[in-house]
Amino acid sequence: MSDGGKMWGARFEGELDPQFAEYQDSLQYDITLAFADLDTNLAWSEALVGAGVLTDDDFDKIAGVIEDLAAQWHEHGLPTDSDAEDVHSFVEQQLVAQLGDLGKRIHTGRSRNDQVATDMRLHLREWVGCLVESIEGLCLALVEKAAQHAGDPMPGYTHLQRAQPITIGHHALAYVEALSRDRERLIDAHNRFDQCPLGSGALAGTAFDIDRIELAARLEFQNGPTRNSLDATASRDHLCEVAFACSMTMTNLSRLAEDYVFFASFEAGFVRFGDAVATGSSLMPQKRNPDAMELIRGKAAKVQGALQSLLTLMKGLPLGYNRDLQIDKEILLPALDATNQSTLVAATAIENAVFDTERCAAEAGRGYLNATDLADLLVNASVPFRDAHGIAGTAVNRAIELGVELHELPANEQKTLLPQLSCDLAESLSVEAVLNRRNVIGGTAPARVRAEVERWRILIAEWAEGYHELDDFNPDEEELELEFTSDD
Ligand code: ARG
Repeated sequence: MSDGGKMWGARFEGELDPQFAEYQDSLQYDITLAFADLDTNLAWSEALVGAGVLTDDDFDKIAGVIEDLAAQWHEHGLPTDSDAEDVHSFVEQQLVAQLGDLGKRIHTGRSRNDQVATDMRLHLREWVGCLVESIEGLCLALVEKAAQHAGDPMPGYTHLQRAQPITIGHHALAYVEALSRDRERLIDAHNRFDQCPLGSGALAGTAFDIDRIELAARLEFQNGPTRNSLDATASRDHLCEVAFACSMTMTNLSRLAEDYVFFASFEAGFVRFGDAVATGSSLMPQKRNPDAMELIRGKAAKVQGALQSLLTLMKGLPLGYNRDLQIDKEILLPALDATNQSTLVAATAIENAVFDTERCAAEAGRGYLNATDLADLLVNASVPFRDAHGIAGTAVNRAIELGVELHELPANEQKTLLPQLSCDLAESLSVEAVLNRRNVIGGTAPARVRAEVERWRILIAEWAEGYHELDDFNPDEEELELEFTSDD
């Protein structure tokens, strides 16, 4: 085609202003939909055979060309020198170049509006699969870290003040919990967008006799065809949902990153990052910076921005397709990539984070992290908790005065301050005792953490079997047909 692949030239005599032509061109952002676009072209052509527009012979020719194009692009990459204005024009150009008039027939009864909606869902489906797998990999890295350190103590924080001892494994598994919810959110979003918009036309539905149920099945949409053509071409809430799932994932990764940046500080000294994920300073020879984690924290800003951009993109749009929607890809696709890369890098960083277990254990025993347990001991000796809290607080003050920890209070001090207690404080308030006392579901006791590690290992192995088996969003075709015919 000599008109820049324009699909709509007939009523136009003049050329596009060159700057505007470039401005409206989306090929650099949507070229990655090329394979999805081939799939929709193939499925649509087959549907057109069913509708009596194309013959079986036509379809065979089209299928052959599509197969060749796919093979070519897989081998040599996508061409970069096209003058087409978007991926749909680009693919059509290629088809027409090889099939002539037959290529021009494929767009019968179809619009780029239902085409782009379908391509994006197919493409998103791939992305969700990829993100889910990356999150699973990170969860596995964290579970292995937890297995390695199920019984190793470290200080636990609230308000970034030392609070109570926890195990390193407990900290790692906290993130597995959060990330497993992010994983579920992605799958959940997929289940909702797993419906085929093709056949919706520009806004009102195709005028040709297309079997949309078969078409949806051919493109492996689990939930059949979309049920309202206006909604199917105009809505992008599924993009917002995926963007939210990514933003939430990045928020969790960013908190994980922040924790580890602190752990790696000289002040904490809990973690040392291996050479694979740490970088030096061009000026200060002593530096060993946790850049991997810092970049993850930084990329979170970009992904969160994408969610906000998408919501803003949608908020004022009249129902029906509007060209604004083209920008959705420019916003979302880089955010998906950033989320995926960050998840992969986080796993590598976790694998390369070496805990100084001795220092972590020593620090868990410093700073009165066992004061709650002292109060609990008093409760067990029948002191009401409020009073116990006060007595333990006074004991902390005295220990600070003496420059000792609670479990180091001399016997005479214990007698005066804590006459209710006859136990050996060194033993009852040891880090080990404090940890073991929290042997409740969800608690930090090493035995619990070990049990949770085992639980996660089983769950993650089940994840690996694929998430389609785990949901039941698969109404069968008969059911869909019933819904359809009962309207007649
Ligand atoms: N490139 C457009 C997009 O991504 C699809 C084309 C629809 N264009 C149109 N004029 N209706 O949204």
